[in-house]
Order: sequence, then structure tokens, then C-alpha cells
Amino acid sequence: MKKIDINIPQNAYNVFLGGNIIDRLPKLLTSEKLNGRLFFVIDKNVNKFYSDKLTEIFTKAKFNYNKIIINANEKNKSYETLQKIHKALIKNNYGRDSLIVAIGGGIIGDVTGFAASTYMRGIKYIQIPTTLLASVDSSVGGKTGINFSNTKNIIGTFYQPKMVLIDTNFFSTLPKEEMLCGVGEIIKYCFLTEQKFFNYVKKNIDSLLTNDTKTITKVISEAVRFKGDVVIADEKETGIRKILNLGHTFAHAYEVEQNHKVKHGQAVIVGIASALYLSKELSLLTPKQFKQFGVLLFQFKSKIQLGKVNKNSTYKIMQRDKKNRDGQVKLVLLKDIGNIVTDISCSRKMIIDAIDYGITVFSR
Ligand SMILES: NC(=O)c1ccc[n+]([C@@H]2O[C@H](COP(=O)([O-])OP(=O)(O)OC[C@H]3O[C@@H](n4cnc5c(N)ncnc54)[C@H](O)[C@@H]3O)[C@@H](O)[C@H]2O)c1
Repeated sequence: MKKIDINIPQNAYNVFLGGNIIDRLPKLLTSEKLNGRLFFVIDKNVNKFYSDKLTEIFTKAKFNYNKIIINANEKNKSYETLQKIHKALIKNNYGRDSLIVAIGGGIIGDVTGFAASTYMRGIKYIQIPTTLLASVDSSVGGKTGINFSNTKNIIGTFYQPKMVLIDTNFFSTLPKEEMLCGVGEIIKYCFLTEQKFFNYVKKNIDSLLTNDTKTITKVISEAVRFKGDVVIADEKETGIRKILNLGHTFAHAYEVEQNHKVKHGQAVIVGIASALYLSKELSLLTPKQFKQFGVLLFQFKSKIQLGKVNKNSTYKIMQRDKKNRDGQVKLVLLKDIGNIVTDISCSRKMIIDAIDYGITVFSR
């Protein structure tokens, strides 16, 4: 089992990563001094596959817990789900000494973290990601939130978990298209980090998609370390942390415009394609770089198929993004691998052209 320290000042925690390590959860809770009454918020599909195992582990350790089961979809990343969690906590007399355990993908992690950050002005929670996407990205960094008024993650907090446990065995039941979503965020790290990581992922895409444990563990470990360092430097996203949003302003707009028929990780791939195109149009990237970098994205053309996209509506949705300033859409773009520029604004026409490019490449 690997241990990665996320040394955020005043909010440090450990990420544990390995295969079949969920059995060690009760012991880790004790060794990390995470005592308190346990409350699980668990993804419906994860509960279906792993409820018996969790019961066995916690019965053996003589730990009690209550749980709430949530159907993970973007519509349920909502105030209604937040209320359900809070009501269950109140009904069962959970106090400030409680520990909430989020078990699921990014949807469960985001809404549970938000519930923990607002219940009694903030109680402890931990993340047990069960998707590849949540393991490489959302479980670390403390961004919590819900969707509201047709806008992604518009209500939320920065609130760090007390521990993250990544058990790669969970991926054995994860549908193929969800593995692809995880690869979407991994591709983002290819552009943020260094050429070596880019080359490694490019060479090992099939191993990632087919859940090869060794490759997956290496990639998760590098992504978590990288994200950890960025979050340590800028927990509240006032500077460097903005780079983690590469492709995401476009991606969130595609998700909402498509009424969530396209999944987040898939939308990230299309969003990065739009961001690379705009980077080229603004001469931040050369046509040669654009072609070289695009290879990583275009191989998924047949796997991601957007429905009909209204470009103007997509642009309007982008105008509601949290990162915008002075009424202008602010974008994260690329100059080179590991050389990201943030807060870039440009004309409406250029953004619409970049939307057009993304949807043309990835449309049915
Ligand atoms: N907080 C952050 O920093 C951050 C970063 C990236 C993404 N996100 C958010 O994460 C969300 C996407 O998360 P996701 O891709 O993990 O998807 P998800 O939570 O929607 O889960 C995807 C699907 O996989 C199922 N599932 C989960 N684990 C499973 C398992 N082990 N076996 C079988 N099925 C399983 C779920 O039931 C669901 O149907 C988006 O809402 C996005 O905005 C947040």
C-alpha cells in the first residue's frame, strides 16, 4: 500500500492507495485517529456490489454505522440530496464528533463533502473513491459542491477530507465507459505535467482502459501527487490551481447543454480538444504541437458521440462559469506540455469556433 501525504497547511491528510485495501479501513481509521460515529453515504451501484463486504469488514472490527444510499447522477447532485443527507444525520442524532464516509464516484464525493462542510458548521469526512475519475481527481483537493439552476458545481465549498482511501479493486465492477471518463481526466494531467507522463499514458491507454492494475496504480499515484502539490500551493484556487480546470469551462457547458447525456469525463475530452484548438488559434500552440497533442484525444472520436449541440446555448452556459471575471469568459489554455496559461479572454466568435471544432470532431 502506498501513502501519499497531502500537506496542506492546517488541513493535511493522507491518501492510501493499493489493491484490496478496503479491508484495512477500520484499522486506518484508528491509526489516523479518525474516531467518531460513522455515517456512510454510498453510491447505489457500489452498494449493490460491495454492501456485503463492507458489512463483513465493519462487523468483524465491531464498528457500527448508518448509511444512506444515493443514485449517482448529475440531477441528484442537488439540494434535494443534500437535504436527504442532512435529514438522516439529524434523525440519527449525529453530532460534531461524527465522521462521514463518502463511498462512490465524484458525484457522491462532491455532494457528501458539501454535506459534511455545512452540517453543524463542518464535521469530518473521508473519501473512498470507487471510480477511476474520482481516484485520479475529485477525491483529492477538497472541492465540494452541487449543481443548481442548470449550472455545474455552482454552489459549494473548499473543504478537505481527513483521509482518502483508493482501492483499485473497485474498478473491477466499473463499466467500460466509466473507465474512459477516468482516462479523460488522466489526459488532462498529461498536458499539465510533463512529456514523460504524456508519453507513458499515450503508450498505455489500452492498459488503462482495460484496468491493468500496475499501470492504473502508477498513473493514479502520479496524478494524486501532482494534484496534491498544486492544492498545497493554492488550496482556494486564487492562482496556480486554476490550471486544473484545463478544458473544464467548455466541458461543463457541454454537459449542461446536452442535459447530462454526456458524462463529465467524456465532456472533459471534448473540452480539452476545444481548448487546444483555441490555443492554436491564439498562436499559443503551433499547428505542429496541436497535431501532436491532438492524437491523445482523437482516438476517442468513435467512443464519445455528442448529440446535436447548440453553439449559442453552450456559449451562454459558459458565461455563467465560476472562473469568469468582469463579465468575461476566462479560459485555461496551453502553450506547451507543462506550460499552462490561465485567465485568458478572447472574442465570442473565437470561443464559438472552438465549440464548433469540439462538437464537429466528437459528433455522431
Ligand atoms: N471535486 C472535484 O475536484 C472534481 C473533479 C473532477 C470531477 N468532479 C465531479 O465528479 C463527477 C463525476 O464523477 P465520476 O466520473 O466518478 O462519476 P459518478 O460519480 O457519476 O459515477 C459514475 C457511475 O459509476 C457508477 N459506479 C461508481 N463506482 C462504481 C463501481 N466501483 N462499480 C460499478 N459502478 C460504479 C455510479 O453508480 C455511476 O453510475 C462530476 O459531477 C464532476 O463534476 C469533481
